[in-house]
Amino acid sequence: MTVLITGARGNIGSAIVTRLAADGHAVRASARDTTTLDVPAGVETATLDLTRFAGKTLTDVETLFLYPTRGDCRDFLTAAKEAGVQYVVLLSSPASFEHGECDGPIGLVHRGVEQALADSGLRHTILYPSWLATNARRDWGEEIRAENRISLAHPDAQVSPIHLDDIAEVAAALLTEDAHRGRMQVLTGPESLTQREIAGVLAEETGRAITIAELTREQALARRAPWMPESVLAALLDASALAVGVPALLTNTVERITGHPARPFRAWAAAHLADFG
Ligand SMILES: NC(=O)c1ccc[n+]([C@@H]2O[C@H](COP(=O)([O-])OP(=O)(O)OC[C@H]3O[C@@H](n4cnc5c(N)ncnc54)[C@H](OP(=O)(O)O)[C@@H]3O)[C@@H](O)[C@H]2O)c1
Repeated sequence: MTVLITGARGNIGSAIVTRLAADGHAVRASARDTTTLDVPAGVETATLDLTRFAGKTLTDVETLFLYPTRGDCRDFLTAAKEAGVQYVVLLSSPASFEHGECDGPIGLVHRGVEQALADSGLRHTILYPSWLATNARRDWGEEIRAENRISLAHPDAQVSPIHLDDIAEVAAALLTEDAHRGRMQVLTGPESLTQREIAGVLAEETGRAITIAELTREQALARRAPWMPESVLAALLDASALAVGVPALLTNTVERITGHPARPFRAWAAAHLADFG
């Protein structure tokens, strides 16, 4: 049996590849361009754009991890069904169902992929992970390295940071064992933290005196990274505003499926000190 991991270069996809390979499973890792795709020894690579024809990528694939592409992946899903794929794990986002987000730009993209998968007739489980611990590196890494500072709106918004290894372990279990293959799994970290508290953990772990510069919504929009669409940033800011003073949702899904409690944000930070200089 081969497990196909799409989006294998990504934070989540690469963690799943690593996990499955370490457990001795036959893994095929796909990316739109595999020339710079770094995979563990023994892992096959395949070129695949989910919005285009799947070709031989699906040969011998029994289960697959589906990255929620922004484009139309219906042809790929039809090919997967015809190729005999038995089961799919789809990465999605709580923005699909959260109040204030489900009809916004993030929710609509993910709901579109969920609908395409439902229409395909493929058996599947949708994963809804909470705030990815890697957001700290993506959104704050550069400013921490350069100025020991995090500029953000709504620092008291609460989130539940989830360790990528926990998402990977859950996905790997679902892709290789029949237990827990329900329609959806909502995954969170073990605690609800304000973004200010997350910065405090980073300060303690890195030994840096990290300060917070609180931005207005307008200032945050003006500092938008080039890769971030304005409508998406606006939706994220709206979600943050709603999360001030509101504990984040916590579930026991990671422990139920993996047998161990979800890892705290501190564990992720301690393992990624180099990302913060
Ligand atoms: N940030 C959060 O807190 C959070 C929480 C819950 C859910 N999410 C969701 O998680 C996802 C981000 O996950 P991540 O951090 O692992 O992503 P990432 O590191 O940004 O990686 C993006 C991946 O998407 C792949 N991809 C994009 N379009 C593709 C296409 N047409 N065909 C094939 N592959 C394609 C890329 O593959 P290539 O190598 O080919 O470029 C790349 O591997 C988003 O959908 C987001 O909404 C995020």
